[in-house]
Amino acid sequence: MREGARRSWKVREALAFAHRELASAGVAQPAREARRLLALALVEPFPALGPDDPLPRFYLRRFRSLVECRRRGVPFPLLEGRVGFLDFELKVRPGVFVPRPETEELAERAMAVARTLPPQPKALDLGTGTGALAIAIARARPDIKVLAVDRSQKALSCAAWNVRSLGLVGRVELRRSSWFSAIEGKFHLIVANPPYIPRKALPKLPREVRNFDPRAALDGGEGGLRAIKHIVAHAPRYLHQGGWLLIEIGDGQGKEVMRFAQEGVGLVETEVERDLAGKERFFLARCR
Ligand SMILES: C[S@@+](CC[C@H](N)C(=O)[O-])C[C@H]1O[C@@H](n2cnc3c(N)ncnc32)[C@H](O)[C@@H]1O
Repeated sequence: MREGARRSWKVREALAFAHRELASAGVAQPAREARRLLALALVEPFPALGPDDPLPRFYLRRFRSLVECRRRGVPFPLLEGRVGFLDFELKVRPGVFVPRPETEELAERAMAVARTLPPQPKALDLGTGTGALAIAIARARPDIKVLAVDRSQKALSCAAWNVRSLGLVGRVELRRSSWFSAIEGKFHLIVANPPYIPRKALPKLPREVRNFDPRAALDGGEGGLRAIKHIVAHAPRYLHQGGWLLIEIGDGQGKEVMRFAQEGVGLVETEVERDLAGKERFFLARCR
């Protein structure tokens, strides 16, 4: 940090400093972010500080290092170490994909399906990350058992923390698996939000995504559909008759995913739905 490293600052000076730093780094809504970062720096219990109060050195140091992280593009949830998802909160940590609002829409569809399933149903979440989808499904249907898998050990330990803190141990099982490689048996519902960004588009992603989400959570291979096609091709073997497959896809991928699914023999009632922003986002199908 460059300015006024030695003297103590008033709250309003600290906020003005943060505003300048964030605005010059191209952060949208720098005033709002400066206040959020200050609130984060002040931790609990929130000291009652007015704009002309001096900011105690300990908090000033914390605040300045948070501003610096934000300047470098560290996403807010990673600074806070948590993110809201539907009506619950998830721990997030570096190296684990931060769940996005459009995935809440996938979760809502999966929860609606889960409520229609026969007693003691089983669900599978492929590429669980923080555990967001598996946890949402388990909370929606008290007698369901969810198996949640990921290839990343970091993701699995983050998901384990979330499963524990939300009281779902015994209802959400976590397992290391590359897609279906360590899966046996059949499920009533399979959900996945796999990596689906075409490889050549990765460098053009916003830096918050490009630099802080794990590449394995984003990289969908040459055309973006490598993981999606793998899941569509293999899912029928792991679904009960009439079982559901729900996959998050990228905008513009719907036609190709539909064509691929319809070429196979295992899936019926295939459909692509749009998210609230009007983008193609969800592939839905049932097992023949
Ligand atoms: C886009 S993230 C989705 C995470 C979480 N389901 C969500 O919606 O927030 C994709 C996840 O798939 C995982 N993944 C990537 N390749 C995988 C593979 N071959 N097998 C299992 N999981 C994989 C990544 O580690 C990452 O956690």
